Amino acid sequence: MPAGATVVIFGASGDLTRRKLVPSLFNLYRKGRLPGGVRIVGFARSKLTDLDFQARMREAVAESDSPEWTGFASNLHYVPGDLTKIDDVGALDKRLSELEDGEESNRVYYLATAPRFYPVSVSHLGELGMAQERSGWPRVVIEKPFGSDLESAQALNEGVHSVFNERQVYRIDHYLGKDTVQNILFFRFANAIFEPVWNRNFVEQVQITVAEAEGIGHRGGYYESSGVLRDIFQNHLLQLLTLVAMEPPATSDADALRNEKVKVLQAVRPISIHDASLFTVCGQYRGYRDELDVAPNSKTPTYCAARLLIDNWRWRDVPFYVRSGKALNERVTEIAVQFQSPPHILFESSVGATIRPNTLVLRIQPDEGVHLKFETKVPDSDRNVRSVHMDFSYSSGMEGVRIPDAYERLLLDAIEGDASLFTRSDEIELAWQLTDPITKAWAAADSQPLALYPPGTWGPLAAEDFLRENGHEWIYEAAEIT
Ligand code: BG6
Repeated sequence: MPAGATVVIFGASGDLTRRKLVPSLFNLYRKGRLPGGVRIVGFARSKLTDLDFQARMREAVAESDSPEWTGFASNLHYVPGDLTKIDDVGALDKRLSELEDGEESNRVYYLATAPRFYPVSVSHLGELGMAQERSGWPRVVIEKPFGSDLESAQALNEGVHSVFNERQVYRIDHYLGKDTVQNILFFRFANAIFEPVWNRNFVEQVQITVAEAEGIGHRGGYYESSGVLRDIFQNHLLQLLTLVAMEPPATSDADALRNEKVKVLQAVRPISIHDASLFTVCGQYRGYRDELDVAPNSKTPTYCAARLLIDNWRWRDVPFYVRSGKALNERVTEIAVQFQSPPHILFESSVGATIRPNTLVLRIQPDEGVHLKFETKVPDSDRNVRSVHMDFSYSSGMEGVRIPDAYERLLLDAIEGDASLFTRSDEIELAWQLTDPITKAWAAADSQPLALYPPGTWGPLAAEDFLRENGHEWIYEAAEIT
């Protein structure tokens, strides 16, 4: 663990700092995981002192009356300043050096600002020599969204690379920090029994769902220019897909892992603007256009489902159905792997119940767990079968173990220099390359209208038809289990 790290939060008066970053750092401190002598320095325009900042952060932290708070708070500092002014960033650097006693120190610059400030922040860090690797390692953590399409992501990558080496850059997708998302790899590669059947010879289809019950709330301004494709598909959904579909890397090293994820994205069959209506269904919840800061004729999709194909030996012709939406029936993120039906049915049920294919569900959130559905003979019947579940649930199977917030893992990894759970530049560009044509197709003037759906449902009926036309149905296994 590096000695004397400094975590500098750009945009420290914002929501992310209060809601996620400082509470996560505090939890890490309480668990004794932060390096000794760590300094956490907030930088933002509000005119605050160290003490004001500490008091504000205390309000943000749930267990702030715990005895550890005082020790933690003494590491919190604040520098007021405008990141667009190089002199202010210079003043920040001076204060950082004072706090570091003039020693060359390890620094994490966390850009928790609005995305339009990423380029200027990075360029000032460069001009002031604050990004230079000498005996300490400066790193930059960049929040999502990283660009809004391929072109803007490439431009941002170029700007970032003119100052930082790729090994210094940590692009956040907070889904990768979720323990249950990391468990996809452990489930696949720490067990020997699943991997032999994890391919086109045994798998009929894979479904990935990121469903949210909430609408867009007060984020209309952001969401209007984003929509579900930029907000969830390009990042969280495609990240889940890469983890499910990737080959086992030779080592757990960050680049070995990310190379395999990149290969999946390279193998996903691109959906062109012209094909979008064949491979995707997009919709909008009723009432979206009445939300604050939303255009009355908005064409922003709040729901999308897509049929993705991965053209490689492992997955050729196995459909990966992915879907995400706001204002849906419930909040659930899960991955369902449906296996093929038995090739020959011996047990025709006397009551007409059909044998259903085995399905494995990795439940990412909430009610985190893993469920396997299989067929069983109903006792005392001649030949009736029923589907039953074999369940592992984190709440009962790992009692006493709290699933930490994704930001705890990510912050610690950035401080320790492990980039495995961060998105590499090529990965992020490939993800935009795949989603851009779909976004453009649905935004085009002559595109088919978005399918409307009532809030509190599973999305537009068109999405049900879409799967049926492809010979499948949406899987609601975990909903059955819980
Ligand atoms: C964010 C999106 O990246 O992820 C939000 O911008 C979304 O729109 C959120 O609600 C979902 O994250 P989680 O961790 O609540 O599933």
